[in-house]
Amino acid sequence: MNVAWTIRPAERRDVTELLVLEEAQFPEPWTRGMLLDEITNVETRRYTVAVEVGRIVGYLGVMFVLDELHVNTLGTLHGQEGRGIASSLLDEAWANALARGVRRATLEVAVSNERAQQLYYRFGFRPVGVRKNYYERTREDALVLWADLSFEG
Ligand SMILES: CC(C)(COP(=O)(O)OP(=O)(O)OC[C@H]1O[C@@H](n2cnc3c(N)ncnc32)[C@H](O)[C@@H]1OP(=O)(O)O)[C@@H](O)C(=O)NCCC(=O)NCCS
Repeated sequence: MNVAWTIRPAERRDVTELLVLEEAQFPEPWTRGMLLDEITNVETRRYTVAVEVGRIVGYLGVMFVLDELHVNTLGTLHGQEGRGIASSLLDEAWANALARGVRRATLEVAVSNERAQQLYYRFGFRPVGVRKNYYERTREDALVLWADLSFEG
């Protein structure tokens, strides 16, 4: 695989690009204010971006709660899927989390989002339950997944 992107922490200046990515990829995209709050809350959040020739091609946001990691968001720029961008963001986040002593991770994913589910299953996530009507706009249910971060897939 030709890996041409690098991963760095997200910064305030990234918000405009991230909004474009969000609006193309999510049925309920975050607003500028929500994104800014998340990126600048470095106490409990860690947002990273994949940058290729000066353009953001993917991003991942995680939240730390005690010794657990919660995946808040993960998106690849529309048109750039299938290159391993999301996988590389998760790999980088896992290494960081393990170094912090975090051992478990959780997330919610829409029941219809099979692509994302396949990706998460490769990272050792397993379904443990369903949150009914989790998404406000679509009223879709979410699967609740958990993973052991030391899992070697
Ligand atoms: C889900 C999402 C984040 C995946 O991002 P991605 O960058 O395409 O993910 P990757 O390329 O790392 O992996 C996806 C698949 O591509 C495959 N792949 C990776 N590199 C590849 C390559 N060079 N050539 C072909 N396929 C490749 C992987 O094997 C993986 O296959 P899988 O679907 O069977 O697991 C992306 O589709 C997206 O942004 N979707 C909309 C937002 C969303 O649903 N986010 C998750 C919310 S919980």
